[in-house]
Amino acid sequence: MSEPLDTVLVVDFGAQYAQLIARRVREAHIYSEIVPHSITAAEIAARATGSAPVRGIVFSGGPASVHVEGAPSIDPAVYELGIPILGICYGAQLLARDLGGEVAATGRGEYGRTELTVGTNEVLFSAAQPRTQPVWMSHFDTITVPPAGAVVTASTPDTPAAAYEDRAAGRYGVQFHPEVVHTPHGQEVLEHFLYDACSLAPTWTMASIIDTQVELIRAQVGSARAICGLSGGVDSAVAAALVHRAIGSQLTCVFVDTGLMRQGEGEQVVETFQRHQGIELIHVRAGERFFERLAGITEPEAKRKAIGELFIRVFEDSSGGIEDAQFLVQGTLYPDVIESGTKDAAKIKSHHNVGGLPDDMQFKLVEPLRALFKDEVRKVGTELGLPDEIVWRQPFPGPGLGVRIIGEVTPDKVEMLQHADAIVREEVKAAGLEREIWQAFAVLPDIRSVGVMGDERTYGHPIIIRAVTSEDAMTADWARLPYDLLERMSSRIINEVPGINRVAYDITSKPPGTIEWE
Ligand code: XMP
Repeated sequence: MSEPLDTVLVVDFGAQYAQLIARRVREAHIYSEIVPHSITAAEIAARATGSAPVRGIVFSGGPASVHVEGAPSIDPAVYELGIPILGICYGAQLLARDLGGEVAATGRGEYGRTELTVGTNEVLFSAAQPRTQPVWMSHFDTITVPPAGAVVTASTPDTPAAAYEDRAAGRYGVQFHPEVVHTPHGQEVLEHFLYDACSLAPTWTMASIIDTQVELIRAQVGSARAICGLSGGVDSAVAAALVHRAIGSQLTCVFVDTGLMRQGEGEQVVETFQRHQGIELIHVRAGERFFERLAGITEPEAKRKAIGELFIRVFEDSSGGIEDAQFLVQGTLYPDVIESGTKDAAKIKSHHNVGGLPDDMQFKLVEPLRALFKDEVRKVGTELGLPDEIVWRQPFPGPGLGVRIIGEVTPDKVEMLQHADAIVREEVKAAGLEREIWQAFAVLPDIRSVGVMGDERTYGHPIIIRAVTSEDAMTADWARLPYDLLERMSSRIINEVPGINRVAYDITSKPPGTIEWE
């Protein structure tokens, strides 16, 4: 049995910052989880004897005012658990209001950068920190009286109780946001809370994550067999490598090559997993089946559906060879776990990925990345020896190049697009912009235009370059690529890819556009 995993809960009061707080705690090498504010003291206490006991609690900020009817609150018995609590922004106001302090609707909020003056060093601030430091604020109510027993340890011109602390009772509050980059000493404040107030040690490292998961996977799977669908993407790759480390040859990976992958991608998956990692791999070359199925289909949703359905069929056919597998490995990440159930957004596109395999496939799921954010998954991948090309691979849609070819998908068009796309990516990489850009790729529309090459009239296809910056793909902006880079891409595509005689750059953000064209 592994040691219990000391955990800090981040109670979400509706802030867009809860995830960021959880990540900052993890950057301090302490495991954290986000929980809704409806969590009860009994639920927290029940974890004391489990595998992830709660050693600290952070209340996030939130958009509400504590004075508003129905404002989010917390089970008051949480204050009696004896677990140190740090309130941030709204969280600090809630603590103050619940524990004998006062919060006033002064109408004198602070937004943005403010100068914080540290008064006394209790726990959150130490002598190593400057007495005045910039912090980032976003609040309209103000704490005028800290909770009973707490001392004010820092202030700003508009907020006399910008930080308060009660070391004996384990209650701390900061009106500013220590988790954002605009608060340069914020991480130190958080670390003082974690290491000093909660007495936690920074033991949650990539190596410890791998060890823990390996143990859990072994316990879950036992001597049974597992299969994993590989897409070439980072999530399924890291999940497979992790499960392979745990159960070795009990794992078989299935790689369905739809023929709609990017140039060289199929070979890279085989090279990495079969040859390098020594994982048993069933490589299904299904390109022909996909092209047959896609013949004559031009409508984007019909295309997506056709690709998604055939993918599942091919996967089922090929995994039929390993009928005794009881477990299916999936690369589900923590943001998917947090968001599932709360998502009721309108359907813009039906997404398909390997993770979208239907539930009725009769497998039990192994999801070793369920607790991790994307950047943590990348670190685990590197630690497991996966190459940068996989660990830092751009997001790529499940339907592949099928949604980047407008109109009917044919082998010729795929070849043309693969070639142009490889040039786009090569040039972005050569310019050193690969990690700054969320995605950079080529799109092949089904139009043609007239051009002239070597005194000859041409009537060829254009290629559209799409490059975007983004944090999470929910919104995106078109990347301001340097003109000389665009020029190199354009001239190489026209000279090297037969059939292309024009290159355009897509300057649409999301919204109103989407990242992919279909
Ligand atoms: P859109 O085009 O909706 O894409 O702005 C947002 C992000 O999702 C990726 N994408 C997909 N990923 N299956 C996937 O796994 C899909 O069907 C799919 N469609 C789009 C897209 O590349 C972008 O990063």
